[in-house]
Amino acid sequence: MLAAVGSAVGLGNMWRFPYQTAEGGGAAFLVAYVCMAFLIGVPMMLAEFAVGRRARQSAIGALRSVGGGRWAAVGLLFLVASTVIFAYLSVITGWALRYALDGLTTGFHADAASRYAAIASGPSAVVFHLVSIGATVGIVAFGVRKGIERASMLLMPLLFILLIGLAIWAATLPGAAEGYRFYLSPSLNELLNPVVLQGAAAHAFYSLSVGMGIMVTYSSYLSSSTNLGRESAVIALSDFSVAFIAGLVVFPIVFGLGLSEDVGESTLGVLFISLPTAFAQMEALGRVVGTLFFIAVIVAAITSAVSLLEVATSILIDERGWTRRRATLTSGLVVAAIGIVPALSLGALGIMDQVAAELLTVLGVLAMAVIAGWVMKNPEAELRVGASPTFERLIPVARFLIRYVSPPLLAYVSWIALRQTIRVIAGG
Ligand code: PHE
Repeated sequence: MLAAVGSAVGLGNMWRFPYQTAEGGGAAFLVAYVCMAFLIGVPMMLAEFAVGRRARQSAIGALRSVGGGRWAAVGLLFLVASTVIFAYLSVITGWALRYALDGLTTGFHADAASRYAAIASGPSAVVFHLVSIGATVGIVAFGVRKGIERASMLLMPLLFILLIGLAIWAATLPGAAEGYRFYLSPSLNELLNPVVLQGAAAHAFYSLSVGMGIMVTYSSYLSSSTNLGRESAVIALSDFSVAFIAGLVVFPIVFGLGLSEDVGESTLGVLFISLPTAFAQMEALGRVVGTLFFIAVIVAAITSAVSLLEVATSILIDERGWTRRRATLTSGLVVAAIGIVPALSLGALGIMDQVAAELLTVLGVLAMAVIAGWVMKNPEAELRVGASPTFERLIPVARFLIRYVSPPLLAYVSWIALRQTIRVIAGG
């Protein structure tokens, strides 16, 4: 479970959620995101759990086993999506590494915007991307699961505490009220905007790590005594709280320090410009808090990266009979090479995020809804294994959502995502 929480809580919460919220009109996005996460995201996580634990195989084999040969292609979709996401996520993790080093060595730069421009380009961005891939490969190859688990157990609570501390500090800023208004009061217009709905759906899946075969892979290692309902509730609640509190930190700072322009200029600006600016203004305290903050971000990012790499690794082990070490090294090398492109070009990074996170993930969730809802035999039986009485009562609800609500909604969202993706690629 800790590994799954580690996968869900990551850069999606700290980096992607605040900027997606900013783009999606603030509170409207937040409302749509919560609905999507709990109505579709959690049932679909349960669907992945049911498939993975019943099949006890990596993503491609699991889909073949519950759905038949044709559905193995969905496993390939998972493989492509997780590889692309891993490639650019590792670039961003590299930046976080640079900021943590800044905090440790020189302190945060007062002009965070130009510092960010320097960090996010050129050969050093490539070097730090490779460092972050190296760390992930090391963890997955040598199977130091105890290492990840111990680190997450220590650093995830630390991340929580730091975020809450930062949120309290942010509340004292002069523009905080304006920030909260933007973040917490929805406008009906935006709520009815299909693009906001699509963005919220895609982000909900991304943030929960569903639609990429990760939960299929992880649940294939679960025992039959695990209560899958409790598992998914803990993952979703931790994931949501971290994202929500990150918003309570970011928006007061953005409005309080008058930084909304930086954010407009670059969607990545929230985490990498607004916060370091705030840390620089807080002087010595800012340096300590900021350094710890970026270390926590790195841990959150690496535990997500580990789960992404595990999808490819476990597929190579199961399908090709490779050793774990060979499988990890090979997939790590492939991702390292792909990641050079987003390391050198922010435009490419944006397009990769759009294609993989917005489109492929949603298609992956749609395919899973069809498999678990209509193809797989009796998925409820798998959910009932190890279930608590409370969860058992909810299984029919999950079943209904997976079977009847998810497919049409996801088909609609996929269609908007496709149009949006074409627009983004054509425009940039
Ligand atoms: N869910 C992770 C996050 O919120 C990111 C991620 C996406 C991890 C896809 C694995 C797969 O940052």
